[in-house]
Amino acid sequence: MITHKFPEGFWWGAATSGPQSEGRFHKAHRNVFDYWYDTDPKAFFNEVGPNVASNFYNDYEDDIRLMKETGLNSVRTSIQWSRLIKDFETGETDPAAVSFYNHVIDAFLKNGIRPIMNLHHFDLPVELYEKYGGWTSKYVIDLFAIYAKRCFELFGDRVKEWTTFNEPMVVAEGEYMYQFHYPLLVDGKKAVQCIFNLNLASAKAIKIFHETECARLGGHIGIVINLTPAYPRSEDSADVAAADFAETFKNKSFLDPAVKGVFPEKLVEVLTRDNVLWDATADEMKTIHDNTVDFLGVNYYQPFRAKAKETKFDDSKGWLPNKYFDTYEMPGRRMNPYRGWEIYPKAIYDVAINVRDNYGNIPWYISENGMGVEGEEKFIGKDGVIADDYRIDFIREHLEWLQKAIEEGSNCFGYHLWTPIDCWSWSNAYKNRYGLIALALVTQKKTIKKSGRWFRALAENNGF
Ligand code: BG6
Repeated sequence: MITHKFPEGFWWGAATSGPQSEGRFHKAHRNVFDYWYDTDPKAFFNEVGPNVASNFYNDYEDDIRLMKETGLNSVRTSIQWSRLIKDFETGETDPAAVSFYNHVIDAFLKNGIRPIMNLHHFDLPVELYEKYGGWTSKYVIDLFAIYAKRCFELFGDRVKEWTTFNEPMVVAEGEYMYQFHYPLLVDGKKAVQCIFNLNLASAKAIKIFHETECARLGGHIGIVINLTPAYPRSEDSADVAAADFAETFKNKSFLDPAVKGVFPEKLVEVLTRDNVLWDATADEMKTIHDNTVDFLGVNYYQPFRAKAKETKFDDSKGWLPNKYFDTYEMPGRRMNPYRGWEIYPKAIYDVAINVRDNYGNIPWYISENGMGVEGEEKFIGKDGVIADDYRIDFIREHLEWLQKAIEEGSNCFGYHLWTPIDCWSWSNAYKNRYGLIALALVTQKKTIKKSGRWFRALAENNGF
C-alpha cells in the first residue's frame, strides 16, 4: 500500500558530476583537483585520484542504461570547463569533448531520462587560478560567462534545465577557509570576495541563458546550494545569535542573492564592520539583482548546530566567520559514523518550509541527499547484491518529512539522491560509497544495490 504519494511528474533522480565520474581521459586542461592529485597524491584516500574515477567517459552508455534500471527519470551531472574549452579566452571548444557531451545527452534522452546540466562542480581549471587568482578574480567571471554561453549554444537544444554552480559555498570554504580544496588557503577576506564573485558569475550566466533560444522555448536555469540549517544549542540569546550568524553566513550568502537578488543586510553589516567586505560595483550589484534563478536546487546532508563562542576567537590567521559561533556537538545526535555527518531528516522539512515562507515558494527540488558508507562489500548477500537497507531507511525517512512539507504547500518538484553510481569523493576518493549502483574499483564492474531496486519501485509508484 502506498502511504506517501508525491505530485504528478515528480523528479525521481540522482546526481553526479563530471570530475567525479568521467575520469580524465582526453581532457584539454587540469582542474584544481587534477592538479592537487598530481602534486600531492598522498592527500587522497588510498592515493586514489580522479584519473579513472568511475570511467563514465568510456562506459556512459551502459551506465545510463543501468541508471534507467533503477527507475531514474532525471539525472544531474556537470560539464567540465577543463574538458569542454580548449581556449578559455576565445571560448574555442575541444571537438572530442563536444562530441562526448552530445553523446551523453543523447543517451540520457534515448533512455527517457531528463538531463540536468550543471556548469561548475568545484572544478575550476587550475591555470585560471595560477594566472588570474581563480574565483577571487573578476576576469575569471568573464571567462566563465564565455564558457556558459558555449554550453547553452551547444547543448541547449536538448538540455532544458541548467544549473550554474554546485555548492558555491563549499568552494569558498574549501579553497579559502578550511583547506579541503586546492589551493588550501586560510584567508577570510579572499573567501568573502570568492562568495561575491561566485554570486556574480551565477547571475551573469543566468542573464546569458535568459537570452537564449532554449529559455525562449521554456528552458530553465537555477543554482544548487548546500543548505545546512543552523540550530542553536539552547534558547539562550547568545546561542541564538551564534546560530543566526551561522545561518546568515553559511546559507543566506548564496540563497538570498540567488532568489531575491540581494545580500542579507546583516551579512553586509558584519563584513563591513570587520573590514572584510567584498569589492563590488553598483553595476555588479545590479546584475545580481536583475538575474535571479528560475528554480532552486537544495543539497541537504546535515544540520549545523551552533553555540555561542566559548573560547576567544583565534585571529592569528585573520578573519573567519567562526569569530561569531562555535560548532556544537549535540549529545545523543544520530551520526553517520563513516562520513562523520549528523543524520537529521526533519531539517529537510525545515528547509522546505523556509523556502515556502521566506523565498516566495520558488519551485525547488532536493538536488542532493544521501548517505556515504565505507566497506559496503560486507553487506553483499548470497545473490551478490549489496543489501544497503540503511540507505533505504535514510531515503525513506527524509522523504516522509519532504512529503509532509509538500502537503503543506512547499513547491518541491523532485528528489535526487547523491548518487547514481558510486563515484569519486574528492580527497575521500572511494572511501564512502553513496550510489544506488555499486562500483568494483578494480574491475569497474557495476551492480545495482538493493536500494537501486527499491528506488525503482519508489519512482514507478511515485511514492512508497
Ligand atoms: C556534496 C557534493 O557536497 O556532497 C558532492 O556536491 C559530494 O560533490 C557529496 O561528493 C558527498 O560528499 P563527500 O565529501 O562525502 O563526497
